[in-house]
Amino acid sequence: MLMGEKTIIVNGKKYKTTEKYLLQALEKLGFDIPHLCSHPDLEPIATCRLCVVEVNGRIRTSCNTIVEEKMNVITDSEELIEMRRHNLELILSNHPLDCDYCYRNMHCELQRLAEKITNKTRYSGKQRKREKDESSIAILKDFDKCILCGRCIQICEKQTVNVFDYVNRGFETIVGTAFDLPLSQTPCVSCGQCVLHCPTAALIEKDETQPVLKAINNPDKFVIAQIAPAVRVTIGEELGLKPGVILTKKLVSALKRLGFDRVFDTSLGADLTIMEEAAELVSRLEQSKSLPMFTSCCPAWVSFVEEFYPEFIQNLSTTKSPHEILGAIIKTYYAEKNNIDPKNIVVVSIMPCTAKKEEARRTELKVNNLEVVDHVITTRELGKLLREFGVEIEKLEDSDFDDLMSASSAGQIFGTTGGVMEAALRTANYFITGKNDYEKIDYKEVRGLKG
Ligand code: SF4
Ligand code: SF4
Ligand code: SF4
Ligand code: FES
Repeated sequence: MLMGEKTIIVNGKKYKTTEKYLLQALEKLGFDIPHLCSHPDLEPIATCRLCVVEVNGRIRTSCNTIVEEKMNVITDSEELIEMRRHNLELILSNHPLDCDYCYRNMHCELQRLAEKITNKTRYSGKQRKREKDESSIAILKDFDKCILCGRCIQICEKQTVNVFDYVNRGFETIVGTAFDLPLSQTPCVSCGQCVLHCPTAALIEKDETQPVLKAINNPDKFVIAQIAPAVRVTIGEELGLKPGVILTKKLVSALKRLGFDRVFDTSLGADLTIMEEAAELVSRLEQSKSLPMFTSCCPAWVSFVEEFYPEFIQNLSTTKSPHEILGAIIKTYYAEKNNIDPKNIVVVSIMPCTAKKEEARRTELKVNNLEVVDHVITTRELGKLLREFGVEIEKLEDSDFDDLMSASSAGQIFGTTGGVMEAALRTANYFITGKNDYEKIDYKEVRGLKG
């Protein structure tokens, strides 16, 4: 018997489980129980009431019910099915249901459930109506599409930023900010975690695909894409392909098909960031100044330090992040070498993270008074573009990146958690010892989520 293993009876049959919560146990055992507010990263708060089951003769929400020995569970009675349908219809009755034009169309948990359980509602009445909050550079909040599940509240709390909470009461309840401030005036660091966890289109990344297409269609503009290492893996999943497949070369072909003039690898920018960060680390070590040094590659992390721990700003590396470095090279060295007016170059960074959108607008990162990255689109926005233009990535031929300079393996470990500091340490080790012994030294302490 496994540690913590319990026997439960589901629809008359005995099963064993080690899960803490009933919903997770049922899912692992192959029972498909509808749910909207629960999420594996979060503690259950049971707001949607869709996951109801019968436990020992009483109706309970399975997401927050702790598994007990010999629990008798029914998942599929007529009463339960009607109850779930009723609860979903109540949610839908206060929802715009303009799925056909919605940013999340086909990628929405509420829409998926509605298709499964019921796509109409018996209830009608007043609907919550509120202006969208478009104030943030990175994130758009559409209150009308919010189902009050509370996931964003909890995930932002985990980030220790605490931007959202329930405000007002009864029908007037919304998930809002303190003093009803627009997102841009809150301490939000644009990390995008709330967007990732939102089950509907109530929180989405600010869509920059239209200005990108406009630039591509403008014959006077020379449009360059640069791709972050992580995107070449995650784009497959976004497009419904098998997770983990690396699509680097097909992605280059796909971007060329969309009309980009050049496609560069952000790994080159990563190489330069590493060299610069390593040199900075060596210099700080020599002077025993502003140590420990923190990497500055993640703009959400930089904003977090600025907002909550300003006393550590001096510990942040002053080096630009890889896509900003590459953008600067493109608008200076590359523009000059190819005789292109940098004002006519449009650099589009394809990044895994919404915070890069805000970083690109930072005035202190301008070079010769020009923003070096004009637009940042996320993996999800790229997926939307590829779908819109009917580009079937898996059917495309392989293409190589356009050549600016070649990138090292140190640059390519940027995509892993802790990868930036590990790459900088490898390089600093080379600067200090003169030895390229990175195969012998494994910098595990800075890698992964516990580093
Ligand atoms: S959020 Fe989902 S359910 Fe709502 S309109 Fe958009 S796709 Fe449809
Ligand atoms: S982007 Fe991050 S910091 Fe901003 S509200 Fe969402 S979770 Fe909180
Ligand atoms: S904004 Fe999204 S995650 Fe937050 S409560 Fe509304 S639906 Fe849930
Ligand atoms: S998933 Fe259980 S109440 Fe929402």
